[in-house]
Amino acid sequence: MDINKLIADQQSIYLNNFIENKDSSEGTFQNNRATQYLRFEKILEPFLSILNQQVSFHDVGCGSCDMYQYMLDNAIVCDYSGTEIIDEMVEYAGHRFPGINVKNQNVLDVEFKDRFDILVFSGGLYYPGNIDHVEWKVFVFQMIDKMYSQCDIGISFNLLTTYKNMHRDDLFYLDPREIIDYVATRHSRFFNLNHNYPLYEWTISIFKPEYIESVNQAPEYEKYFK
Ligand SMILES: C[S@@+](CC[C@H](N)C(=O)[O-])C[C@H]1O[C@@H](n2cnc3c(N)ncnc32)[C@H](O)[C@@H]1O
Repeated sequence: MDINKLIADQQSIYLNNFIENKDSSEGTFQNNRATQYLRFEKILEPFLSILNQQVSFHDVGCGSCDMYQYMLDNAIVCDYSGTEIIDEMVEYAGHRFPGINVKNQNVLDVEFKDRFDILVFSGGLYYPGNIDHVEWKVFVFQMIDKMYSQCDIGISFNLLTTYKNMHRDDLFYLDPREIIDYVATRHSRFFNLNHNYPLYEWTISIFKPEYIESVNQAPEYEKYFK
């Protein structure tokens, strides 16, 4: 996979559309605010009980930080920051929310070394643009691995599902059975997979075993963490 080519392609796809639609969810190719917010709801749901000002939370591919607006609207508080590869989005997010930290950086870059309790990526793995789907799949798994390597509590992201009753050749779909196997064998057997909402997609939230062990301190559970 040529990551520079892929990033340049993503930048060219999103930029013009964003300039024309910056104030709406269409600026990041989301159908409408309702479906974008439903995605955020599902991404955040497994972490809601632990989010607070001390929890560091990183929004990968944050666009213009619509998720931060969603969190404000729903009184979800945490130490929020974001990363985005499009200058114009970073600049716009900075004007919109002067108090938050949004960096222009490719998360896959070796220089992206920051650690967070939670990292999420919403809506960014659906649209390969001009990239071959086999290469895109490599990118998808590299993003998952990188996010997981930088988290101390867990990660959440969403992808289009193969269990659907419509199809578009330009979108990337992943069988949820494949993600379960990948995540449980390489990273952690502690995950929530949500395939139970109207959109043609699923959301997975994966927790670090060390975190699950730390919040389940009982002699009866010890053997499960050996
Ligand atoms: C569909 S948009 C979603 C924006 C936002 N998450 C939302 O839901 O409103 C996906 C964003 O991910 C960004 N992106 C793609 N690859 C990235 C990477 N490797 N590192 C950081 N951002 C990336 C794109 O530039 C794009 O703005």
